[in-house]
Amino acid sequence: MANDWNRRDVLKTGLAAGVGSFGVPAKAPTVITRQAKRPIVISSGNGLAAADKAMTMVAAGADTLDAVIAGVNIVELDPNDMSVGYGGLPNEDGVVQLDASVMHGPTRRAGAVAAIEGVKTPSNVAQLVAYRTDHVLLVGEGATRFAQAHGYGPEDLLTDHSRAAWLRWKENLSDQDDWFPPERDATGSAADMAPIERHHGTINCNAVDAAGDISGVTTTSGMSYKIPGRAGDSPIIGAGLYVDNEVGACGSTGRGEANMVECASFLVVEFMRAGAQPKDAAIEALARIADKTVSPRLLTDGGRPNFGLNFYCLNKAGEYAGASMYGESDGRTARFAVNDGGESRLEDCVALYDVRAK
Ligand code: GLY
Repeated sequence: MANDWNRRDVLKTGLAAGVGSFGVPAKAPTVITRQAKRPIVISSGNGLAAADKAMTMVAAGADTLDAVIAGVNIVELDPNDMSVGYGGLPNEDGVVQLDASVMHGPTRRAGAVAAIEGVKTPSNVAQLVAYRTDHVLLVGEGATRFAQAHGYGPEDLLTDHSRAAWLRWKENLSDQDDWFPPERDATGSAADMAPIERHHGTINCNAVDAAGDISGVTTTSGMSYKIPGRAGDSPIIGAGLYVDNEVGACGSTGRGEANMVECASFLVVEFMRAGAQPKDAAIEALARIADKTVSPRLLTDGGRPNFGLNFYCLNKAGEYAGASMYGESDGRTARFAVNDGGESRLEDCVALYDVRAK
């Protein structure tokens, strides 16, 4: 068995033991929390350019929310990133529906859009929801019309590449979708579900500036070939993103459904509020999710979650972490982007489990 964090120890030494003793691991993790330094920008592994841009702006005195949104705009507009914005993989009808949320620590404003169509940069629309409406979340056609009223879209978001990928999926349709017929319902085993590589790619970017002000953004095309109207965790404040200017920020990528039922970005920030270091807070949340994953179709033969999930968190002091359910999956090491001035770099995530078994 992989030499993983001892889940029971993580849980036992976490909440039960109280403030100051969170997440003491059975085995020391890769230590990634640096000496506190501000400003700091962190992002998911696909966010090197986003972190560069955000740090350039933050260092020049820009507002942290404007900075992280400008950062993720680069990825949203990149046709080659098939997990976010333009070129993102579509739903089962071949329509690209995007989700995004933003949260601004100093003013405690939040905005989000879900299942929005025809807009390459849903993060900008989420910011408009936060600042130009009395609401937090707009969905579907209403979100799309709101975006158009502000000059966003309509545009075709499918690229030749994403259209071809969708057609390949559609031409091979069988039991590889999200519908549960009576004989294959949500309690079925993983064996009842044909294996298919589903993409939950997303970008999250969080920043704390020199003054300690904090913002975050999460944006995605969501699960590939999803049921039209499916919204993941990215537009849900508390799940895909949470910011508290007194404490820190956390955002997520990976299987949104697993995150949504635990409100885990909120949970990570609450653990940090109670005194946990970012890496311990995120591992604690991953342990909670692993512990609460009970459906056989979501478990490996060894009883572990059969999905990937990642958190990116920082605190007001400038300490930060990336954390992943698995440190290595399909031969790839889980990494996240960091910028503390200068060029962005990738660092290894701490992980609840070392290697994801097939
Ligand atoms: N975390 C992205 C999604 O599940 O949609």
